[in-house]
Amino acid sequence: MKTVFLGSTTLQVPALALGCMRMKELDETQSVRLLETCLELGVNYFDHADIYGGPEDPCEVRFAKAFQKTGVSRDRIILQSKLGIVPGKMYDHSRDYILSETDLILRRLNTDYLDVLLLHRPDALMEPDEVAEAFDRLEQSGKVRFFGVSNHKTSQIQLLKKAVRQPLVANQLQLSIPFSSMISSGLEANMATDGAVDRDDSILDYCRLHDITIQAWSPYQAGRRKGPFIDSPEYPELNRVLEELACKYGSTKTGIAAAWIFRHPARMQVIAGSMREDRIREIAQAADIEITREEWYRLYLAAGHILP
Ligand SMILES: NC(=O)c1ccc[n+]([C@@H]2O[C@H](COP(=O)([O-])OP(=O)(O)OC[C@H]3O[C@@H](n4cnc5c(N)ncnc54)[C@H](OP(=O)(O)O)[C@@H]3O)[C@@H](O)[C@H]2O)c1
Repeated sequence: MKTVFLGSTTLQVPALALGCMRMKELDETQSVRLLETCLELGVNYFDHADIYGGPEDPCEVRFAKAFQKTGVSRDRIILQSKLGIVPGKMYDHSRDYILSETDLILRRLNTDYLDVLLLHRPDALMEPDEVAEAFDRLEQSGKVRFFGVSNHKTSQIQLLKKAVRQPLVANQLQLSIPFSSMISSGLEANMATDGAVDRDDSILDYCRLHDITIQAWSPYQAGRRKGPFIDSPEYPELNRVLEELACKYGSTKTGIAAAWIFRHPARMQVIAGSMREDRIREIAQAADIEITREEWYRLYLAAGHILP
């Protein structure tokens, strides 16, 4: 499996990570099989959040039970989780919340430490000093090795960095071929087009400039609540080009859609949420496919974007 350096660290991680948000769709036997397939493929990076699955049946607990059954030791996997969303109520990046919620995550995942902890969404009331104190205490106690953010824009990361000492190693951002405004805003710079709207403060360039690994979430969703674009009648041209390239590279439409993200020089991680072993296998194999520059742009245009 192709690897990338996590942020500015020397930790090499697989370019594909399994997102565990949908783990409730599987029973325990299926979960164990999916994890075994991932590990066999070298996909040993697992993305969680405290809210996945809800309070009654958290995906972190389901994961921990299934992982235990694989018999693989904890130090062979990389566990990442996110916190900060209190569903339906607020976002919370206060020191005490970060500390207490991390303890709950550790308990649910049945582990002594997290490899990576991310702040899930920006909190309007965030105090950088409080986050810094929480991160220091989590690092000193050995509960968290690395820290990062999710859905943060440039200025929000800069604000955090005023106080936080640790490097922020990752920013998890929504990205797929159709949902790629962070790319469009750069390509359509200086134009009066819709794609020129910079919604995230040039976050793609900022992450590249500061060695923050972008983790592409929902790589198969066309947009918020729009559903997957593969085989969608709303994207006939995109599916035609995906099919053509799948034939060329001995892959599948699913594989080529991931190859489009892997091809970007920012060296992103793809956080795939499929609970199907065959799809995870196709995506893992696609990490070794390098589509051409022209093919990358063909896919982008086929999704309906423009080049001014
Ligand atoms: N930071 C954030 O705010 C945030 C938000 C959302 C998600 N995430 C993370 O990102 C991960 C991925 O999110 P996601 O599940 O929305 O991403 P996704 O990989 O784009 O979507 C996976 C879903 O699409 C379905 N699907 C249908 N056709 C598919 C195809 N041809 N190839 C692949 N999948 C297909 C899958 O079904 P099957 O299972 O049947 O394949 C699955 O239900 C989550 O698990 C979570 O870890 C982060």
